[in-house]
Amino acid sequence: MVMTTSSRFDAVRRHTLALAAPLSEEDCCVQSMTDASPVKWHMAHTTWFFETFILERFERDFRPFHPAFRMLFNSYYNGVGDKYPRPQRGMLTRPALGEVLAYRRNVDERMAVLLERSGGDSDLDMLLDVGLHHEQQHQELMLTDVKHLLSLNPLWPAYTDAGFTPASPRAPLGWRTFDGGVVEIGHSGEAFCFDNETPRHRQFLEPYALASCLVTNAEYLSFVEDGGYARASLWLSEGWDWVRANELMQPMYWRRHEDGWREFTLHGLQPLDLDRPLVHISFFEADAYARWAGARLPTEAEWEHAASGARDFGAPGLHPTAEEALQAARLSQLFGACWQWTLSSYAPYPGYRAADGAIGEYNGKFMSNQYVLRGSSCATPAGHARVTYRNFFPASARWQFAGLRLAKSSG
Ligand code: AVJ
Ligand code: FE
Repeated sequence: MVMTTSSRFDAVRRHTLALAAPLSEEDCCVQSMTDASPVKWHMAHTTWFFETFILERFERDFRPFHPAFRMLFNSYYNGVGDKYPRPQRGMLTRPALGEVLAYRRNVDERMAVLLERSGGDSDLDMLLDVGLHHEQQHQELMLTDVKHLLSLNPLWPAYTDAGFTPASPRAPLGWRTFDGGVVEIGHSGEAFCFDNETPRHRQFLEPYALASCLVTNAEYLSFVEDGGYARASLWLSEGWDWVRANELMQPMYWRRHEDGWREFTLHGLQPLDLDRPLVHISFFEADAYARWAGARLPTEAEWEHAASGARDFGAPGLHPTAEEALQAARLSQLFGACWQWTLSSYAPYPGYRAADGAIGEYNGKFMSNQYVLRGSSCATPAGHARVTYRNFFPASARWQFAGLRLAKSSG
C-alpha cells in the first residue's frame, strides 16, 4: 500500500498522541533523569522540528506559533541558536500540556497547507522524511523515558492494562558461522536512511560466528548468580568503576524479592520471565556477560552482513517477547525484541559527510564516546527499522530496550 505524503504525516503524528493517551498530565511533565525527557517535551520538540526546519523555510508569511518555543524546544542544534538546558526540561510546567497539544494542531494544519501547495519539492520532501523518522525516534524515547519515570514509583504503575503473557521456552542457542572476507555494509538506494548509514562501503571480516538468538533472562541470571557483578576480571576497567560507583548487582529493572526475581515493565512489576530476551543492560554489562560466556559482542559489520537478507522487522509491543521469526542466515530475533549492543564505536563510515547547516548536527556531531546498537526493539515504531540502521548510546546507558547477541571469532 502506497501512502500519500500527507496520510503518512498524519499517521506518524497521531501515533505520538496514541502513545501519550494512557498518561496523566503529571506523567507527561516530569523528567526522571537528565538522559530522559518529559513526554510533553517530546511532543513539543517533534513539532518544533517541523516548524523550525520546514515551516520557517518554506511557509509563506512564516510566523512562529510562539516566539519562545524556538529556544525552549531546541534540543541541541547550535545552528538554530539558543537552547533551554536539557537537565531542566521537567521544570517546564508552562506551556501546559493543553498548549503543547494546541501547538501540535497548529503546526499540523500549517504543514497540511504547505504540503498541498509545495509537495514534490525535493528539499521539502527530504526534510519531511527526516522529520517523520525523527518523530518515530522520539516515539521510542517516550516509552523508554516514561518507563524510567514509572519505575521510580514504589506503586509500580503499569503504563498499559494489557495482559503480560508468559513466553514459551526458547529453542536452544545455536551458532551460525560466516566466512567473512570483503563484504559491503551501509545504505544504498532511494529509500530513506539517516546520513550516518552512508556511504555504503567495503569492510574486511575474519571468519566469525553469531548466536542464533538473543541472550535470555535465564542465561543472564546464571551470570548474576555466579557473582558476575562482583568479579573485576570480567569487566572493562571503566565498566568495573561504573559497577562499583553505582553498587550495581543486576540489570536496571530487575528487583529481587523474597519469593524470587521480578522485572519492572510497561505492564507493571512482573515475575521475571526466564525465557524472554534480557533487556535494559549497558554496553559494559553486555561486554562482561559475553566475556563470562566465553564469547564477545559482534561488530556492527558482522551483524549487518549476517542480517542483510532480513525482511521481517517485527511487530511493536511494550516488552520483548520470545518470538523467534527465523530469517536471514537462520538468525532469529534480529528485530523487534531489543537493540543489540555491538563492539563498534559510533564513528563515521569512510567518506561520510554531514549535511550543511543546522540539520547536519543531527547525527555526525555525536560520533565520540558512544557504541553502535543494531536491530530494533519492541518499542521501535512500525516502519522505522532497517538492516543498515545505526542506533547509538554511551557505554553506561541502560534505560533503552537494549540486550545482546553473542559472537565468536571462528578461524
Ligand atoms: C539515535 C536515539 C541516540 O536519542 O538523541 C532524537 C535520536 N536524534 N532526536 C537521540 C534522536 C535527534 C537519538 N538516538
Ligand atoms: Fe530530537
